[in-house]
Order: sequence, then structure tokens, then C-alpha cells
Amino acid sequence: MKRILTLLVAAAALAGCGRNAGADRDAAMDRFVDELMARMTVDEKIGQLNLLAAPGDIVTGEAQNSDVAGPISRGEVGGLFNLKGVDKIRDIQRLAVEKSRLGIPLIFGMDVIHGYETTFPIPLALTATWDTAAMREAARIAAREASASGICWTFSPMADISRDPRWGRVAEGVGEDPYLGAEMVRAMVYGYQGADPSHYATDEIMACVKHFALYGASEAGRDYNTVDMSRQRMYNDYFPTYRAAVDAGVGSVMASFNEIDGVPATANRWLLTDVLRDQWGFDGLVVSDYSGIMEMTAHGIGDLPEVSARALRAGNDMDMMSFGYIGTLRASLDAGLVTEAEIDRACRLVLEAKYKLGLFDDPYRYCDAERTAREVFAPEHRARARQIAAESFVLLKNENDLLPLRRGGVIAVVGPLAASRENMPGTWSVATDLRAPSTLVEGLRAVAGGATKVVYARGSNVCHDGALERAATTFGRDIPRDGRSDRAMIDEAVRVARSADVVVAALGEPSEMSGESSSRTDLGIPDAQRELLEALVATGKPVVLVLFAGRPMTLSWEAAHVPAILNVWFGGTEAAEAIADVLLGDASPGGRLPSSFPRNVGQIPVYYNHKNTGRPAADADWFAKFRSNYLDVPNSPLYPFGYGLTYTTFEYGEVSLSSDRLARDGAITATVRVTNTGARDGVEVVQLYTRDRVGSVTRPVQELKGFRRVPLRAGESADVSFTITPDMLRFYNAELAYVAEPGEFDVMIGGSSDWTRSVGFTLE
Ligand code: BGC
Repeated sequence: MKRILTLLVAAAALAGCGRNAGADRDAAMDRFVDELMARMTVDEKIGQLNLLAAPGDIVTGEAQNSDVAGPISRGEVGGLFNLKGVDKIRDIQRLAVEKSRLGIPLIFGMDVIHGYETTFPIPLALTATWDTAAMREAARIAAREASASGICWTFSPMADISRDPRWGRVAEGVGEDPYLGAEMVRAMVYGYQGADPSHYATDEIMACVKHFALYGASEAGRDYNTVDMSRQRMYNDYFPTYRAAVDAGVGSVMASFNEIDGVPATANRWLLTDVLRDQWGFDGLVVSDYSGIMEMTAHGIGDLPEVSARALRAGNDMDMMSFGYIGTLRASLDAGLVTEAEIDRACRLVLEAKYKLGLFDDPYRYCDAERTAREVFAPEHRARARQIAAESFVLLKNENDLLPLRRGGVIAVVGPLAASRENMPGTWSVATDLRAPSTLVEGLRAVAGGATKVVYARGSNVCHDGALERAATTFGRDIPRDGRSDRAMIDEAVRVARSADVVVAALGEPSEMSGESSSRTDLGIPDAQRELLEALVATGKPVVLVLFAGRPMTLSWEAAHVPAILNVWFGGTEAAEAIADVLLGDASPGGRLPSSFPRNVGQIPVYYNHKNTGRPAADADWFAKFRSNYLDVPNSPLYPFGYGLTYTTFEYGEVSLSSDRLARDGAITATVRVTNTGARDGVEVVQLYTRDRVGSVTRPVQELKGFRRVPLRAGESADVSFTITPDMLRFYNAELAYVAEPGEFDVMIGGSSDWTRSVGFTLE
């Protein structure tokens, strides 16, 4: 049989040469899969649908003794995920290829969501670069390292739009905006998979867009919670990012945990079949989330056999860790709850993915130890990660140009996050060697050089509540609790601060305070650290807050009292050096916010592309009776979407249009002159927004439609142009038709969603 497989694949490869290669290759794939499935028993087909997490007992050279050895040898497993180590993966693959009856190779997945060993900033931070080329390159490097380590499938990109920073998983996503998000998701898919999704090169991996769908809209920001949303909002605001992945050829889709219209996504036929396959034309593989099938028993829609059958019928192909398919589908087939055609359809999609990945050709294709040694954590990858990290940092405040710091003199680094290396990479860094990153203190010392003295004091614990601290420092990200009293720690920090010229307060969330199952109702800097910050500010020394955060935080006190705030998110393995580069001016902070930072939790959800209401606030910053506003805080966020300073300043001229009338099949150009008015070179992120003044349904006050990173030398000006087409003005109307409606529009161009120049035009 194995020989037959090899011959079939060789024929397929030949058929793929020449013109129409895609179509020929598909035909060859169909023939191959038909032939293989004709030999499979129903149980073997169901086996392909079973995706297992790697158990902890897999030891190199001893794979045959691990918990998964029996099921793999019996053909009961289609793939394994989150196993690190090319030798282990080779051993496990050998079990499938040599021990199972048909020798079908396993697919190996992993959550490679912001890099493999070379770890990039968390996805929210990568989104803050507004640099699609950097995003694509980060995904490309991740794919090279993962594929060199036996992994051929990543559970990324996470395309869940969220307007609720209480939800910890905003860290893994692409922020609040569908346009920016879609651009970033597309860049990730191309970075992982390359441009041809019908065939993966040896250094490309299959992507999996998740969590389909609407997972970022869980009620109250509580993870896994109920979602309820209008079709209007779904199609216009929350679907475009997933759709962008599908249009870019993403090979797989992960169903989300939440319900939609009362049916969990995993068993939601409307979602997984009508929308995904019929409306969007997706022809790849759908996988459940971890135990997502089994969890539907707790959702209350049936027992395990029932929910497993419902998931399969809805269009969910692979079962991740529910054991629902492997355990119940055979009996459900006999009972008439599912059909063999439904099992066949799912099995075919799994086999097709393996075929496109070249696994039938060479099951060990991604197990190349030489490549592992050469490519994983390679110096050139790390160098890019360091640059990209600097590009992701958002300078929120910089009074009197406190930053960048001058070399020489004494810098006091204070805070419980300043001396931790395990916290630097950020959440979901599965393959990262947590001992690899430098601490911030180490990074600063190395980058500052001998003429600058860097002194350190811890200053506080993460927070007063030990239980909260433990929950936020799991998965090897421990920050051992200091047994001294709060007073003693603060006194020491104040002494150290007083001895220095400037204080760098490294505070915020430890990395596991955001990410999965890390919802918060208080988004401030945790209490003990905040008290420390107040004490540092009270010394009168200039204080730079280096803020670690996996989400938008509430910083009203900080914004009023701390002269400089640099939001560094979680910057990956090279974060410490990148932070030092930016603090010392060797690099400029390049990020702009991909999500609004609220003034307080009560404002949530606060997002820039909101509707106007019938009683819009009279003035964004003052209360007026009987208007849509709050008594106690303005409607505006503290820091808006698109906002971010850098080490120079920019000015915008008036926006000019090539015409103030846009024909239905035409295009107009909007141009603005941007000038670097500061003393340093810099990069401006020029943002294009539109507003549809009158619609058949209400329309947002502002929608991002384009952006560009524009490097400008000190004093330099450039004309920046955007082409506007009717296509860019389309939206889903009340009938969910995708239309651009004639009428008046505003075009707004500027350096932040709240800081634009605008001009009007008419769509004919
Ligand atoms: C997460 C997914 C992840 C999966 C596999 C789940 O808990 O929701 O995002 O891909 O685990 O690790």
C-alpha cells in the first residue's frame, strides 16, 4: 500500500507540471484521495477526524510507550498538536506510517500564534505596527521555524474582532477594526502559507483562522460567554476578518466555543455551511476548538453522541479533544443519526489537507533536524523580531520630550516585571524557550553600554492578592512573591529612584493576565504596582512608565500624572533589547493603537467606528442633558484608535480630491501633504477614513478604509495619495446585500481616528 501511495503521488506531481497546474493537481488529488478512501474502513475514516493534544509522556526514542501509541497504530488518530521537537515528531509519525494498516501520516499542529522560538510581539501588538509587510514577515519566519521543527499546521491567525478589553484574548487578536484586522489577517495567512494554497512548500505551513465566529463579542468580556448579535453587525463588523482569511486561501477554520443565535458555532450549520462554504466558497478543513464538541453538552443541546452528530452534520470536520467523533460516530452511523457521506466528506477534507502539505509524498517532510539547527531561533530572525517589536510599541505620552533618554548618568529601573525573562514573550508562546529572553534590566544594561549606570529595585509584588497573582503567573511565568512588606519594598524603590537621574517604571500585567481565560473587570495597573508608581512620581524624579499589557488598559491617573508612557504590550523574545532601543532613541516607537483605550471600565464598549444615535453628544467632552452621554466621563476614549506618538511630529495640509464626484465605475484620488515638523526622522501612519452621510440603514461615524506608513526625514514633506473607489464604500444593507449607495461622503485623512482633515464628495 505504501508503495502505491508513493506512485500515486509521483504521478500527481507530474500531472502538476505545465499549464493549468492547479486544476491538474486538484484532479490528481481527487484521484489519490478516491483511491485511498476506497480502501478505508468507516472506522479508519472516523480515525482521521480525531485530533489529539500531545500527551506529556512522549519521550524521544520511546514514542511506542506513550499514551497515544496504541490509538495511532490502530488508525484512530488523524493528527496531534502542540508537540515540540523534531525527533519526537518523527518518532510519532513513524508509528502512524509503519504501524497503522494504511500508513496514513499524521498532521502535526501547534499554536504558533506570534512566532515559534523566535517570538514576535503578541498579535495585538503586531497589529499595532500597522505594517502588513512586517506582519507577513513575522508569520513567514514563524512558518520557517515551525516547519523546520516538524510542525505543518498552525492555529493562527486569530481574527476575532473585539471591542471589549475585559476579554483577555484581545491579546491574541487584531483589535477593534474590521479593515485593519482584515489586512493583518490576510498578511498572516500569506506569511504562513505562501500565495498558492493548493500546495505548500517545505517551509510553509497550513494556517487556521479562528475562532469562527464572533468569539470576541462574548457578553461582559467573560471568556467563553454567550454571544448575541445582529446580522448587520456580524456582516459589517465581525465577519470581514474571517472572510479575509478565506479569500486569502486559508487552509482551515476553527469553530469557536460561543453560541450564535442559540446554537454553538461548532454545531451551527448556518455558520459552518451556509455562510462559510456556500456564501464564501471555503473548501478547506473545519476543526473544532479544544473540547468544543463535548462542551455542547454543558451548553445544553444534547449528550455526547447527539452533539457529535450535530457537529458533523453542521460541517465541523475534525474533533479536537472531545473524543466525540472517535467515541460515538460509528454508533450514530448505525443508528441513522449521521450518514456515511457526511463522514466521507469530513475525512476527504483531512486527507486533502495532508495531500496539499505533501505528507503522502514524504511523511517526514517537515522533520529535518539540519533545518531545525540552522533556522530555529536564527540570529537574522531575532534581529527582525527586535526591529518589529520596536515598531509595535505605542508612545502614549511624552511630556517635554522626556524620551528618548540620553546615555550617561543613572537610570533606575523599578518594578516586578523588570527582572522577569519568562514574562517577556507574552501569552501563547508554546514553542518559546522561556529562559531565552533577556530581562528588561539586562537588555537596558547591554544596549546602554558602560557609560550609563542601570540600577534596579523591585518595588512591589504584582498585586496584593496572592491568589490573583498566582493565576496571572501560570505556565512557567512565575514571578516569585517577595516576602517583604509593601512599605519596605516601596521605601527601597524610592531610595533607588532618588539616586538616579530618571526612573523607568516597568509595570502592568504579567503575561498570563491576558490571553485565554484571563478576563478582568478592572483594567488598571494592578494595585500594588499602582501604589509603587504613585510613590515614584512623588519623588519628583522624571518617571517613564514602560507599560506591559495584553489589552487596552485604563490609564486615567497615569495619563494625568506620569510624564512619559510607553506601551510595550508583550514584545516577544527580543522585547528587552527592543525596549532599550526605543528608550535610548536607537529606534523610534512605531505603533498606533489598534483598539481604543477606555477612560474607565464603565465606558466599555468604546470604539471609534460607532453609530451616531439620534441624540449624539453635543460635545465629546462635556455632559449635556438628554444627549447620549455620561454624567461622569466624556464619550471619547482616553486614547483613541489609531493614536500613537513618536520622537518627531507631523503636520497635515488640506485634503484635496481629484474630483468631488465619484462615478459608479470610477475612482478619485485623495491627496494630503504630510510634513515631518520635528528634529528627528520618523515614520507617520497616515490613515484614511470615510463617512457615509446618509444610508438606507444607519452608518458608522467613521470607517478606516486605508493606511500607509510613510517614512519622512526631519523637515521632509511628502504628498500621500489614496485612491477611493465605490467598492471601498460598500456595506451590507438590511437585506444583507453588499452595496455602495449613492450620496454624500466625507473623506478624512490624519494621524489618528480623532485627528483628521476632511473633505466631501458625492458617489453618483
Ligand atoms: C484555544 C485555541 C487553541 C486550542 C489548541 C484552545 O483552548 O481556544 O485558540 O488553538 O486551544 O491549543
